[in-house]
Amino acid sequence: MDLSLQLANYHRLDLIGPPTPLEYLPRLSDYLGQEIYIKRDDITPLAMGGNKLRKLEFLAADALRRGADTLVTAGAIQSNHVRQTAAVAAKLGLRCVALLENPIGTSAENYLANGNRLLLDLFDVEIILCAALDDPDRQLGDIAERLEAQGFRPYVVPVGGSNTLGALGYVGCALEIAHQCAGQLAPGYIVTASGSGGTHAGLALGLQALMPETQLIGVTVSRTADQQRPKVVGLQRQLAEALGFTPPLASIQLWDDYFAPGYGAPNDEGQDAIRLLARLEGVLLDPVYTGKAMAGLIDGIEQKRVGPAPVIFVHTGGAPALFAYHPSV
Ligand SMILES: Cc1ncc(COP(=O)(O)O)c(C=O)c1O
Repeated sequence: MDLSLQLANYHRLDLIGPPTPLEYLPRLSDYLGQEIYIKRDDITPLAMGGNKLRKLEFLAADALRRGADTLVTAGAIQSNHVRQTAAVAAKLGLRCVALLENPIGTSAENYLANGNRLLLDLFDVEIILCAALDDPDRQLGDIAERLEAQGFRPYVVPVGGSNTLGALGYVGCALEIAHQCAGQLAPGYIVTASGSGGTHAGLALGLQALMPETQLIGVTVSRTADQQRPKVVGLQRQLAEALGFTPPLASIQLWDDYFAPGYGAPNDEGQDAIRLLARLEGVLLDPVYTGKAMAGLIDGIEQKRVGPAPVIFVHTGGAPALFAYHPSV
C-alpha cells in the first residue's frame, strides 16, 4: 500500500508547506546520555504553530468543499486547537465560533485572558463559555443547529480535530518522518503527547506501514492508559479502513504516569522539563502537553523504559500557553 497515494485521495489545503524540520538536540542528548531528535511541529507556519494545522489541512478543505461559512469548535480556554482553528478560519475568510470550558476552575487573570485566549480575540472569534465540555459532540451540534437557524452554514471541527479526517494529518507526518530518516537515522522510539488521540493514531498507522521497527509511545495528558486506549485504537481502526490498510494493527503503547494532577493542571516534572529544554536547547515546551510528554521521555530514559536507540520527540506545540500559566494558575 502506498500511503502517499492513499492520502492524495483526500482534499487537502496546503497550510504548512515544506516538511517541518527534524533536528538533533545535542545538548539534551549529552545531558540524557541518549540521542534525541525533535520533529518541529511546534513551528508549523500559522499563528504560532502546533500540531492542529496538520489536521486542519484536511478538515478545513472538507469545510470549504461543503460550502461552510463558519467553523465551530470547542476546547479549554487555553486550547491550542481552538487558536489554530480560529487562525485557519481567519485565513480562509470564515467565521469562527468557539465553545470554551475552564477545566481547572481557575480565576487567574493570565489563564482567563492571556496566551491562547488573547489570540482568539485577535482572530475575532465568537466565544461561548460553558461549565464543562461533558458531551462535546452534542454541545457542538446544538450550536451548529442554532447557527443554521440564523442562516449560517456551520462546519463542526471536533474537539482536538480528532476524527478520521483530522488524524490523516498525522499519517502525513509519519510520511515526513520516514522520508527524513531514510538512510540517515534509525530511531528506536518516537514519543508524542496523546490527548484527543488524532496525533497518536495517525502516527501509529503511518509508522506501522513505513517504520515498523520504531516503537511509538504516547504520553497521556488527560486520561489513564485504560481510558485513552479505546480512543486511539478507535481512530486507528477508522484510519485503517479509510486508507485500505489491512489489519492486524500495531498495538498502542501509552504511558500515563505524567499527567497528574489532571488535564491542564501543571506538575513539577513537566515544569522541570520545560526549563530544561529552554536552557539546554532554546526550545519552548508547554505546561499542558509537551512539558508532560517530555517529562515522560526523560523519566522513561532514566527508568530504562526505553533502550539505547535514538529517540524522536514529536513537538506538537503549545508554547502560547506559557503566558497563560505565568506565574501560576
Ligand atoms: C500542544 C499540543 N500537543 C499535543 C496535543 C494532543 O494532540 P491530540 O489531541 O491529537 O492527541 C494537543 C492537542 O490539543 C496540543 O495542543
